[in-house]
Amino acid sequence: MLQKIKPKKFKLGIVGGGPGSWIGHVHRISSRYDDKYEIVAGVFSRSVDKSRKFGQSIGLDKSRCYSNYKEMSEKEAKRKDGINVVAIMTPPSSHQIIAENFIKKNIHVISDKPFAGNLEQGKKLYKAIKNNKKIKYALTHNYSSYPMVREAKNLVEKGKIGKVEYINVEYIQDWTDGNKISKTNSKKVFKWKVDKKIVGVSAVLNEIGSHAYHLAIYITGLKGEKLIADVSKYSKDVKMDNNAQVFVNFNNGAKGIVWTCVTAKGGVYGLRIRVYGSKGSLEWVQNDPNYLKFNPSKGAVKFLERGYTKANFSKKFSRVKFGHPEGYLDAFANIYKEFAEYLKTNTKKRFYFPNEEEGLETAKFIDACKKSSLKKQWVKI
Ligand SMILES: NC(=O)c1ccc[n+]([C@@H]2O[C@H](COP(=O)([O-])OP(=O)(O)OC[C@H]3O[C@@H](n4cnc5c(N)ncnc54)[C@H](O)[C@@H]3O)[C@@H](O)[C@H]2O)c1
Repeated sequence: MLQKIKPKKFKLGIVGGGPGSWIGHVHRISSRYDDKYEIVAGVFSRSVDKSRKFGQSIGLDKSRCYSNYKEMSEKEAKRKDGINVVAIMTPPSSHQIIAENFIKKNIHVISDKPFAGNLEQGKKLYKAIKNNKKIKYALTHNYSSYPMVREAKNLVEKGKIGKVEYINVEYIQDWTDGNKISKTNSKKVFKWKVDKKIVGVSAVLNEIGSHAYHLAIYITGLKGEKLIADVSKYSKDVKMDNNAQVFVNFNNGAKGIVWTCVTAKGGVYGLRIRVYGSKGSLEWVQNDPNYLKFNPSKGAVKFLERGYTKANFSKKFSRVKFGHPEGYLDAFANIYKEFAEYLKTNTKKRFYFPNEEEGLETAKFIDACKKSSLKKQWVKI
């Protein structure tokens, strides 16, 4: 008779990501990718009925499909087989309060970005994470988990491009779908992103600018020191931040430019970063993620391919062989995979997933952008 082997998986609870949410699906797939988690509980929507129905439709026990996150944290904390980890994928302004609720119950947190709705919330959340030694935290700035982004980080650390001197990063999208947005249709098209109470201090910066800035500090290991920003709104009638141009001075003297926009016509997930150092440069484009352009100042341009000989570091974060495309879901799943390993370890092994330190840095950046744009002057980050 075959011996029954019980896999040791972390018990995962989910908050948000209900019916119709794209990122909810991404989290659920990513958590299962490497067989490290089992989804056992959740509150998927603000609507109790929708949440319960959805939970059961993905196979959860009725008793663990909760009506709100407070009930879920209370009840799960009391269970012997309660969740070890919660994954939060609600809109930005709720990240801090929901995370803190679970932190108080000693439940580990994986949260989607941005770290918080504004800097004040970000500081509170950071403190709550640091004050509870029993919990660990990961932030799904998932673009940093692509193997070739990790390769870029490694090349910078190894000094292959020398001292970083210039950084240019952009993340542009088009939330209008090419339509003219008026006061009447703005809520239908932009949804909660027009509501500051939900999206937080800035729609464009919280939703995608945070990813761009995160990528810059992630790859280079630098921090922004001061910046000057121009953050604009879609129109007089639709007062949603839709565009930000930012000059950033980094702590090693490097100069950077961050451009982020959510109404750039034809802008489809346009995330691109270029880093120039004293010995060469790197370029990575999200739509072609398996390649990294490495341009030494002396010599020919090299296209490094994921998992291939010249990109050995990327192999650690890759599942399929070079020549076969890997993409968004694989990268997202790297965060879940590493976090599971991190939860099991007490060693000083290095992990590469984004955490609260980077979360707080992005919150500081966004806050400084808003202040600078208002004052029309350079401000400290
Ligand atoms: N990492 C990425 O690449 C990426 C991509 C898209 C969205 N996101 C982030 O994910 C978050 C959600 O964005 P979205 O586009 O999926 O939004 P969405 O509106 O499509 O989905 C949000 C879901 O959360 C539910 N919800 C809201 N408040 C809740 C609460 N208190 N309790 C339980 N459920 C609740 C809603 O009912 C809805 O089902 C945002 O922070 C966004 O920035 C990240």
